[in-house]
Amino acid sequence: MSRTALRVCLLLLAALGRAGSEHDQDQEHGDEDVPHSSEKGPGHSHWSYEDREHWGVGYPDCAGTMQSPINIDTAKTIFSPQLRPIQLSGYSLPASEKLKLRNNGHTVLLELPETLAITGGYAQQYRAVQLHLHWGSPSGPGSEHTVNGHRFAAEIHVVHYNTKYDSVTEAMVYPDGLAVLGAFLEVGPRENPYYQEILQHLHKIQTEGKEVLVPGFNIAGLLPANMKFYFHYNGSLTTPPCYQTVKWTVFNQTMQLSHSQMSTLVMNLRNDDGKPLQNNYRLVQDLHRRQVLASFQTTLLSPKQTPSGSDASEAAEGHSGSSFHAGDVLAVLFGVLFAVTALAFLLYIYKHRSQNTRMDSPTKSKVIYTAASTENTA
Ligand SMILES: *[C@@H]1O[C@H](CO)[C@@H](O)[C@H](O)[C@H]1NC(C)=O
Ligand SMILES: *[C@@H]1O[C@H](CO)[C@@H](O)[C@H](O)[C@H]1NC(C)=O
Ligand SMILES: [Zn+2]
Repeated sequence: MSRTALRVCLLLLAALGRAGSEHDQDQEHGDEDVPHSSEKGPGHSHWSYEDREHWGVGYPDCAGTMQSPINIDTAKTIFSPQLRPIQLSGYSLPASEKLKLRNNGHTVLLELPETLAITGGYAQQYRAVQLHLHWGSPSGPGSEHTVNGHRFAAEIHVVHYNTKYDSVTEAMVYPDGLAVLGAFLEVGPRENPYYQEILQHLHKIQTEGKEVLVPGFNIAGLLPANMKFYFHYNGSLTTPPCYQTVKWTVFNQTMQLSHSQMSTLVMNLRNDDGKPLQNNYRLVQDLHRRQVLASFQTTLLSPKQTPSGSDASEAAEGHSGSSFHAGDVLAVLFGVLFAVTALAFLLYIYKHRSQNTRMDSPTKSKVIYTAASTENTA
């Protein structure tokens, strides 16, 4: 009996410490996707963006009901506090590590080493494979996702696959196979040094199939600093074969490139027809019955809920959240009270432990396992 009590106690403490993060998120982390590239190497496929209305003919999944991209209507998203901040590991690469940057006729694609991983925010572990971009033309924007009908200048997709599979090729056909992190690019006042690490090489890979080796850099710099605020939904690859196996994360914070950088992206590459590689985005797809979750409150109900109070507020457990922030103080108060009580209880148990033969090692290992996985995810 004291064994069970101890375990419950530790579990509760752990849950408290991590602000209720990981087991909830297991169920919600949706899809991401976009395997444009890896499959298009030498044996490239013959689809084109001009033909995008007919992709379903050769690739049946493209006509499915869980397709990407989508328009994100922030008024209809469901606030889900259990969506934890996305955490990355291994993203900072030394310049000595060379990465392949390729024009595959549909996009510019940077191959990523398997040492890059998503270690938090998703219920499972995902390894990076590649990243690529979608953009418009000199006369219009070209992001794939839209937010409240607004299309951004461009969009980055970082494609990962579930480590329970052996390769991205295997993973991409399973519902939980892929995770794609997406972020919007906009024009801002300053040059972005991280994007420059890619953009400065584009003139060397202007035609389809060309590739160049580029020095490693901090890949995480291509994504928003704030990984707490994002949208999450189940969707698909946005290019044929459009497999519906992507748990998407679309960040709320956008990235800024200078005007000149944006022109470099839009003007440099050519597609397989030798024409300018522009407007390489798919139109938004019907949501059908899907839900889009938000890790933050998207509607301003009260002055106190601007997107900033995240960390403390994430400790609260509420689900769809209107009284989320209001509960912060109480949550912290009860948390502290509970922690004190639990500690006292633990001390009590510890004192009696030597007399208690039932405190065997199986229990210990369970406890240790729990703590470790907590660390990983939170
Ligand atoms: C995505 O699909 C999984 C598996 O069907 C489901 O458990 C999860 O709730 C879905 N996520 C969203 C955001 O709808
Ligand atoms: C970020 O969230 C705010 C609040 O809902 C919304 O107005 C804005 O359009 C969102 N932007 C993006 C890029 O998601
Ligand atoms: Zn993409």
